[in-house]
Amino acid sequence: MRERIEELLGKLDLADKVRLISGAGMFRMAGHTGIGLAELPVSDGPSGVRGENWDEREPSVSLPSGTALAATWDRELLDEIGALIAAQARAKDVYAVLGPTINLHRSPLGGRHFECFSEDPMLSAEMAGAYVRAVQAHGVSACPKHYVANDSETDRFSVDVRVDDRALRELYLYPFERSVAAGAWMVMAAYNSVDGTTMTENSLLDEPLKGAWGFDGVVVSDWTAVRSTEGAAAGTDLCMPGPPMLWGAPLEAAVRAGEIPESAIDEKVRRILRFAIRVGALDGSPRPAPEFGDQRAAELVRRAAAAAMVLVRNDGVLPLRASAAGHTVALLGPGAADPRVMGGGSATVIPAHTTTPLTGLSAVLPVTHTPGVWLTEGLSAVAPELITDPDTGTPGLALRYLADGEEIGRQHRATGTLVLFGDATAERATSIELRTRLRAETSGEWRIGVGAMGRVRLELDGELADEGELTMSGADPVAALLHPPQRAVTRTLRAGQVVDIRITIENLLALPGLGVFLGLTLGVTPPRRSEAEEFEAAVQAARAADVAVVVVGTTEQIESEGADRTTLRLPGRQDELVSAVAAVNPRTVVVVNSGAPVEMPWREEVAAVLLSWFPGQEFGGALADVLTGVREPGGRLPTTWPVTMADVPVLDTTPAADGTLTYGEGVHIGYRAWLRSGVEPAYPFGHGLGYTTWELSDLAVSARTATVTVRNTGDRPGKYVVQAYLSRTDSTIDRPVRWLAAFATVTADAGESRRVEITLPQRSFEHWTGQGWAVEPGTFTLHVGASVTDLPLTAEVG
Ligand code: BGC
Repeated sequence: MRERIEELLGKLDLADKVRLISGAGMFRMAGHTGIGLAELPVSDGPSGVRGENWDEREPSVSLPSGTALAATWDRELLDEIGALIAAQARAKDVYAVLGPTINLHRSPLGGRHFECFSEDPMLSAEMAGAYVRAVQAHGVSACPKHYVANDSETDRFSVDVRVDDRALRELYLYPFERSVAAGAWMVMAAYNSVDGTTMTENSLLDEPLKGAWGFDGVVVSDWTAVRSTEGAAAGTDLCMPGPPMLWGAPLEAAVRAGEIPESAIDEKVRRILRFAIRVGALDGSPRPAPEFGDQRAAELVRRAAAAAMVLVRNDGVLPLRASAAGHTVALLGPGAADPRVMGGGSATVIPAHTTTPLTGLSAVLPVTHTPGVWLTEGLSAVAPELITDPDTGTPGLALRYLADGEEIGRQHRATGTLVLFGDATAERATSIELRTRLRAETSGEWRIGVGAMGRVRLELDGELADEGELTMSGADPVAALLHPPQRAVTRTLRAGQVVDIRITIENLLALPGLGVFLGLTLGVTPPRRSEAEEFEAAVQAARAADVAVVVVGTTEQIESEGADRTTLRLPGRQDELVSAVAAVNPRTVVVVNSGAPVEMPWREEVAAVLLSWFPGQEFGGALADVLTGVREPGGRLPTTWPVTMADVPVLDTTPAADGTLTYGEGVHIGYRAWLRSGVEPAYPFGHGLGYTTWELSDLAVSARTATVTVRNTGDRPGKYVVQAYLSRTDSTIDRPVRWLAAFATVTADAGESRRVEITLPQRSFEHWTGQGWAVEPGTFTLHVGASVTDLPLTAEVG
C-alpha cells in the first residue's frame, strides 16, 4: 500500500493536497478526480447512521444508545450491531461512521452520558474494540470519539481539562488505545483542551496516539474544533466540516510562506489516501454490504434492547404470568405513549417507525393507559396524522424556500420537526415558509406555535396571529438546533375543525463555517384535563388493575449534547406519581427510560424496577418481551446508580473561573470512587437480575487464566456475566479498592453447568509510572462474581 500511496501523492500539487485534508461539505470529505477519488460522505453516529442529511425522507434504523450497548456486556451482540451499522452506512453511501463515543462516565451529570459506554475503562475498551472491529470488518470505517477527556459538556468548546498522567493513561486514554489496537481507521479529536492545549493541536495526538500506539489512520477534528491555521502543523489530519475557514486557502498560503512545512501536509494526505484505500473508495471497491432487510434489522434491535435492560429490583412480580382472564395492566407515566428511544444531539437519527411501550404491551396484554403526568412544558412537534400538506393532500406540510420573495425550492415534508443544516437550498434562501392544515382531534383550547431561530410570523386561517424574534438562549448551537426557542398562541377549536397554518421565518441563523443552522418545529399542545385530574385518573387506573407499569424518564432537553444535567431528579411529578401508584397497587413495576442514572426515591416501595436506557426504535416490543418473560432482561449496570445526587463522589462538571476543570480524583471515578468513599449507592456497578438463579463455584487460577463453574440453578435459561476484579492489599501505589480486570458473558439452560475460562490481561495488573507500564511485585487478589459488590469467590494471582 505504501508505494501506491506515494505514487498518488506524487500526482498532487499543494492546492490538491490542502483540499483533500479540508472537508468538502458538512458531512463530506473532499475527493480528487485526477486520482480517481470521489468525495466521501461520513455520518453520525454512534447509535444509528443518519446519513449526510437530517431528513425524515431518508430514515435510519435507531439502535440502542451507548449505555444500553455497554449494559449488554456482550461483545458478540456488538458484532451483529456493527454489521447492521455497516449495512446502513453502505445503504447511505457513507464511508465513515462517527462513533463509538468512548469518553467515560466521570460524572452522572455529563450531558452525553447516554452516548458513552461506561464509567469503567476496561468495559468501555472492550465494547469500543468490539464495535470498531465489527463495523470495519465490512469495510466501513468507525471513528472512536472524542479524543480525549471530553467527559462532560459544560463549556465543551473551551474547557481546559487538567488530569494527571496516570488517570489519563489508565482511564481516559485506555478505550482509545484499545480501539486503535482493534484497527480503527479514524479517530476524532475533541473540542476541549487538555493541559492548556486544544485537542486538535495537542501533543497527545503524537504521543501516544500516532507514536507508541502506531495509529496510522486519520485524525478528524470534531466539527469546527480546528482553532487556527498554524495549528495545522500538529496532529489533526482532516478539518471538518467543509468548506474550511482556517484550513483551505489560508493553509495553502501558510505553507507557501514557509510557516508550515509541506511535509506536514504530505503526512496528512498519506493518511487520507490510506483511509480511502481501506474503505475501497480508491482502489477496488467497497466490500459487499451485509444483508439486512427491515425485518432482520428490527429483530436485532429488539433483541439488543432486551439484552440491555437492567432489572435492578424484582420481588417476583416479573415476569408477568401469562394473562389469566381479567388480568389487566394499567400502563402509566409519560413515557408509556411518548418514550425516548434515543438521546439528543448529533447522535439523533430519524427512524421509519418506533414502537412505544403502549403499542408493544397492548399487543400482548389487556392494557389501559393514561400518562398521569405530562412532561413537555413547551409545544410538542405536531403528530403527522393531524396535519395535511395543502399542496399534496397527504399527511405533513409544505416547505418553501424563498429568496427575496421568489420561490427557489419546495418540498413535501412528513414531520413537524425539521432540521436544516448542510442544506444547499437554505443557504440561498432569505426566508422559509411552512404551510399545513391542522385538524383538531378534540374540542378545547389548543396551543399552536413554532420553534425556530430568526424572525417568525404565524398566520392562522389567513390572519396574523403572532409575530416576533426568536433568539438562541444558550451558547451551544447544537442545543439550539435541536431545541429551538418557541412562540405560541392559544385558540379554541371544535373537534374536527381544520385550521390553515402558515409560518414564515426570516433572518435565518447562519454560523461561521457551518452556514444556515436552523431547527424548526411546528408545535401544538392539544386540550388537556387539569394536571390534578390527570394525576388522579392514573391512580384510579392503577387501583383498578392487577398490575401497574409506570414508564418514567428524562426529557429530550435534559439528556442531550451541548449541556450537562443540573439534577438527577426525574422531571415533573413523576416521583410523586410512582409513589401514589405504588400506594394503591402492590404490583407496581417501574420502567426507567433514561440514558443515565436518575434518583429513584420510591425504589423500595415498588415491586420491580427495570432500567430500559434509550433502547432504540423497537422499545415497545423489547419491553413487552422482557415484562412477559419471552426474554430475560439481559443487562448489567455499566455505571453506578446513586441513591441521591448528594452521595455521588465525583459530580462536578463546571469549570473554574479560569476555564479549567480539574480531575482531582485521579484514578478514582465510578465504582472506584464509591468504594473509596464507603457510601452505598442504590445499585452497584455490574448489578442486574435475570429471571433465573445461579451458583458460582470452583474458581481455579493457572498463570493468568481463571476458570470458574457457573451453574444455572433455576428453571429457565439465562445469562450470567462473570465479572473478575483485582485488588491489592499491600501496595505502595494509590490504588482503587478493586478494579474490573476481565469479564465473560455466558448463557446456560436450566440446570446446566458451564466451566468458564477468563484470561486476565496483562494491563489489568499494570499501573502507569509516568514513564511506562509496570507491575508491582507481589500478589494480587482475584474476586469473581456478579457485580462489584457481589464477589463470592477469591483467589491469589501472581
Ligand atoms: C459532536 C460530534 C459529532 C459532530 C458531527 C459534534 O458537535 O460533538 O460527536 O460527530 O458534531 O455531527
